[in-house]
Amino acid sequence: MNQYRLPSDSKMLDSDFVFGVATSSYQIEGAVTEGGRTPSIWDTFCKVEGKVDNGDNGDIACDHYHLWEQDIEMIHSLGVDAYRLSIAWPRIFPKEDCVNPEGLAFYDKLIDKCHELGMKVYVTLYHWDLPQYLEDRGGWLNRETAYKFANYADVVSDYFGDKIDVYTTLNEPFVSAFLGYRWGYHAPGVEGDAEGFLAAHHLMLGHGLAMPILRQNAPQSKHGIVFNASPAYPNTDQDQSAANYSEAENYQWFIDPVLKGEYPSLVWEHQVSNRPMVLQGDLDIISAPVDYIGINYYSRNVVSYDENGDIKTVKQEGADHTHIGWEIYPQGLTDLLVRLKARYSNFPPLYITENGAAGDDHCVDGEVLDEQRVNYFQEHLNAVDTAMRAGVQVNGYFAWSLMDNFEWAFGYAQRFGMVHVDYQTQKRTLKQSAIAYRNMLVTRSEEKKNG
Ligand code: FCB
Repeated sequence: MNQYRLPSDSKMLDSDFVFGVATSSYQIEGAVTEGGRTPSIWDTFCKVEGKVDNGDNGDIACDHYHLWEQDIEMIHSLGVDAYRLSIAWPRIFPKEDCVNPEGLAFYDKLIDKCHELGMKVYVTLYHWDLPQYLEDRGGWLNRETAYKFANYADVVSDYFGDKIDVYTTLNEPFVSAFLGYRWGYHAPGVEGDAEGFLAAHHLMLGHGLAMPILRQNAPQSKHGIVFNASPAYPNTDQDQSAANYSEAENYQWFIDPVLKGEYPSLVWEHQVSNRPMVLQGDLDIISAPVDYIGINYYSRNVVSYDENGDIKTVKQEGADHTHIGWEIYPQGLTDLLVRLKARYSNFPPLYITENGAAGDDHCVDGEVLDEQRVNYFQEHLNAVDTAMRAGVQVNGYFAWSLMDNFEWAFGYAQRFGMVHVDYQTQKRTLKQSAIAYRNMLVTRSEEKKNG
């Protein structure tokens, strides 16, 4: 298949539906000591033995800090409408309360280039690279970090204003809080249930504090937040309540405070000893109106209770999985979108801000035949289309990722790119999945032109 196909009456083919590709700063930039940047929690975490596969780190990554111009041209060559990237907080504030003009200038030229080529920019302010000096004072366990984040959002949005088309405060607060401060799989590697919930609350507070500032500094731009979300399914008929709880912790804990101004009671009642300190007024701040919600979807969870009454995920033997071990389950994306619409009566427009598959890809004679990823994208595009037909408003779809990059605790062994990166030479090669995306987008724009 050299082109993804959508039914000809699909709303995803409308000219205002946004197709894009996504990346994040620490995963691609490298140049960790250049341009005035100081360490983030990920630079520190990568040095801890056993935390990242193969001892990998983001020191060089895709060397995007130097190759940004050719990378933006490559993105443009795919025919996408938009590029979703993130700004590295430690490039903007390398030291406490100290703004670094070189950091701002790096993103400025990159954004200009995108606009010059006719692409919109979707900018995430926090995709997990917290400055290490803030972690030294407790990081997201310290309420003050939420205020530091709001100040950082102020500086960035004051500088760029409406030039950033779409602002995202946080990417996946679930992952920052729970993988970083509850289970210790991600930076900064803290383990503790109460810590996880406290970090989560402070992240959400940071989001809420930033919202009115972003609106004031960039009134023409759109503002929102991105969540990861996995629908849960009971393993047996006895496990429906496990599935309900799983969804409550996985995404309702994060989305409810924004859209309903409250934490879901299922989790609140279950986590009595781990409840965060919520001050009066916090939930009003967190529930500031958003223009959109971004959803990152990769897979589903099938769950059951174990012998201790804890919830465990049951691997679906026999189902197809990607190289990272995640089940391929496109129906989950349709189900998720439909469930979200049903749960939140005031659901704002949605973007699928990430969706993709990891492969064990190899470049042979200049070609990368990533058949599984090609099928993955086709099936998930169909799943979005099906949800839209069921009445869910989706405004755009971003593939994760533009190119292979530093996949956090998995290092470079897991390749999520539509573009292959040879880390020895930094050569980029479009995989079949990128070619199929480009061909779909080219056909779409030709059809647009021909009316
Ligand atoms: C998401 C992250 C993104 C990438 C993908 C595979 O959780 O937002 O940076 O790692 O997973």
